Amino acid sequence: MCPPDYYGVEYEINPWMDVRRNATREVARAQWNALAGALGSLPGVTVNVIEPRPGLPDMVFAANAGLVVGKRFIASRFRPPQRRGETPHYERWFADRGYQVERLPEDIFFEGEGDALRSGDTWFVGYYFRSDARAHERLSGLLGQETLPLRLIDPRYYHLDTCFHPLEEDSAIVYPDAFDEYSRQVLHDRFPRIIAVSDEEAERFCCNAVVVGKTVITAAGCPILRGDLERRGYDVRALGFSEYIKAGGAAKCLVLGL
Ligand code: ARG
Repeated sequence: MCPPDYYGVEYEINPWMDVRRNATREVARAQWNALAGALGSLPGVTVNVIEPRPGLPDMVFAANAGLVVGKRFIASRFRPPQRRGETPHYERWFADRGYQVERLPEDIFFEGEGDALRSGDTWFVGYYFRSDARAHERLSGLLGQETLPLRLIDPRYYHLDTCFHPLEEDSAIVYPDAFDEYSRQVLHDRFPRIIAVSDEEAERFCCNAVVVGKTVITAAGCPILRGDLERRGYDVRALGFSEYIKAGGAAKCLVLGL
């Protein structure tokens, strides 16, 4: 995770961002602390922190830094120029800790775990608004694992992790309207026990969840999803992310899995 010392809504690169509605520093800090605290209290979880940098207000969204697979770090290539300055800092963090840093070809945009989530041995890779359609092929070459591209169609759900999160191998949280028809079908085939989220709860960023075993940390204000998850035996921790939603992110966006 990256602390929110320099976080703010300073430019507009997705439909949620409006520079006239900036985040409140103290509230953002308290929300980040609550998430870090909730994660750190789960058995087996250690929260590692990267030093935040001035002038990189979205660096707080660590999920977009890249993809960690074992001791390999596949760095992102950001589409928005405003975020490109984050990459060298994250690359250094991983290199300093003995990770092998790998990059995709220069002409391919790829925004890390924001657009690539694994279930079993398959990577689901979102594309269109941020990551390129070709990113999944390159990833599959690098990882030697199956990658399935999913076409995002709603600019509000510009990263895959805003509208999809795998649970177990046969189940996932999905906001179906964020995907084209074919991708929706792929998700239904792969996850027979899908949990489809309503428009209202998707807008509250409930798909943007951090799942650790049977615990799901997600955004507050999503009682239907909460009930569905609890009936399936999950322990749901709902936290406030109002200040991060102003930049188009919530729980999952603030975390990169190691
Ligand atoms: N303002 C950031 C951006 O638009 C938000 C990133 C949210 N991260 C995520 N993994 N969905 O790039």
